Amino acid sequence: MTRTARTAIRGGLVITAADEVHADVLIEGSRIAALAAHGSDAAAGWSADRTIDATGRYVIPGGVDAHTHMELPFGGTFASDSFATGTRAAAWGGTTTIIDFAVQAVGHSLREGLDAWHAKADAQCAIDYGLHMILADVTEHTLKEMDLLIEEGCTSFKLFMAYPGVFYSDDGKILRAMQRAAGNGGLIMMHAENGIAIDVLVEQALAAGRTDPRYHGEVRKALLEAEATHRAIQLARVAGSPLYVVHVSAAEAVAELAHARDLGLDVFGETCPQYLFLSADDLAKPDFEGAKYVCSTPLRPREHQAALWRALRTDDLSVVSTDHCPFCFSGQKELGRGDFSRIPNGLPGVENRMDLLHQAVVEGKLTRRRWIELACATPARMFGLYPRKGTLTPGADADVVVYDPHAEQVISAETHHMNVDYSAYEGRRVTGQVETVLSRGELVIDARSYVGRAGHGQYQPRGICQYLTRQ
Ligand code: URP
Ligand code: ZN
Ligand code: ZN
Ligand code: ZN
Repeated sequence: MTRTARTAIRGGLVITAADEVHADVLIEGSRIAALAAHGSDAAAGWSADRTIDATGRYVIPGGVDAHTHMELPFGGTFASDSFATGTRAAAWGGTTTIIDFAVQAVGHSLREGLDAWHAKADAQCAIDYGLHMILADVTEHTLKEMDLLIEEGCTSFKLFMAYPGVFYSDDGKILRAMQRAAGNGGLIMMHAENGIAIDVLVEQALAAGRTDPRYHGEVRKALLEAEATHRAIQLARVAGSPLYVVHVSAAEAVAELAHARDLGLDVFGETCPQYLFLSADDLAKPDFEGAKYVCSTPLRPREHQAALWRALRTDDLSVVSTDHCPFCFSGQKELGRGDFSRIPNGLPGVENRMDLLHQAVVEGKLTRRRWIELACATPARMFGLYPRKGTLTPGADADVVVYDPHAEQVISAETHHMNVDYSAYEGRRVTGQVETVLSRGELVIDARSYVGRAGHGQYQPRGICQYLTRQ
């Protein structure tokens, strides 16, 4: 009988959301079998087929990026990363699970949307993946389908208060979906921006000849993010449902979340590296370069960043995802030359998240454990994947990253692996780099070489949110 392959990772500092310990990690097949203090008799007694020397390195759970959009149709084009290229890039950046968004087309069922996204993703991914569902057309049938999707492990549903005529739902539809979620354990994710008011400001800006990318940021006002966040919270309270607000960027929206959380509500917030590291100054770059930074919610004036960093420490923001939604500058972002409202919305970043957050650790903005909590453990718990994903503990999937905290790198489109012709962080120096990545015990990145394969990544059915106080 053949024995299950065993890998020992020795000599590193094991960091989880809960602990930092000098420990060796034993992997058997696809799971973590044991952790034992480095140098202990227990660890010395392990026999392994392969040993990875992690001396001077961190050993961390693989990142969980709970918000990506591979191949998203938007503004007459498609996000430029496929599931194959996007998950490979994620692995290069130390992420071993993504949760992408299947889209319901207006007039069609959730089932059709979910099947379409499985067709795009299945057998393509280098790392594991789950799916949320975008509700673009809330009907009686859709509401019933939510229950069925939850049984299949698609337990979270994104609604949009923005993008009228595309993904937008009015307050009545939102309330109905929330009422359903209150009964079936689903988690409502909200794109909170007042899209009706924004569209008026867009029209007025264009009529006045204000067509440059920076006006994208000016019309999508912080107050309209805060107003929508407030409204979403009140609707969720009325429905008795939990709420997860995605891509929070405005200090005023953070204040709404903080207030709701002070009241003890099941309200959670997510932000993204672009809001922490980039600003409206980038949107204002000349010669249409600002188009590279067009996403929604928009990049804000730098003054908003302090509120975001503070909320990451106080847990008023609990998750950092990327909202990875890349469009090439050439041929895609360029669709909006002369009209900022036609620039496809979204930024690349799935490869950069773990490094940028580690840079925040280096700069003293986050502790190492909080880095892992924000990027691995909490997203796994929020979306029903913990402790299979998001931590290093016996029985968990062996999704493990060996991270060199001292390596210096310069982020650049020349060297990144995302299928997009620019980097939003071009030229930025960061300390720390992924060295080796295992996904369910299989090497994906081996000492900075890609050795993974499309199709290794498996669909991950998810349980319900693990933070609900009313279950
Ligand atoms: O600009 C963004 N965020 N594009 C992706 C779609 C969304 O709203 O998350
Ligand atoms: Zn149909
Ligand atoms: Zn959104
Ligand atoms: Zn998104």
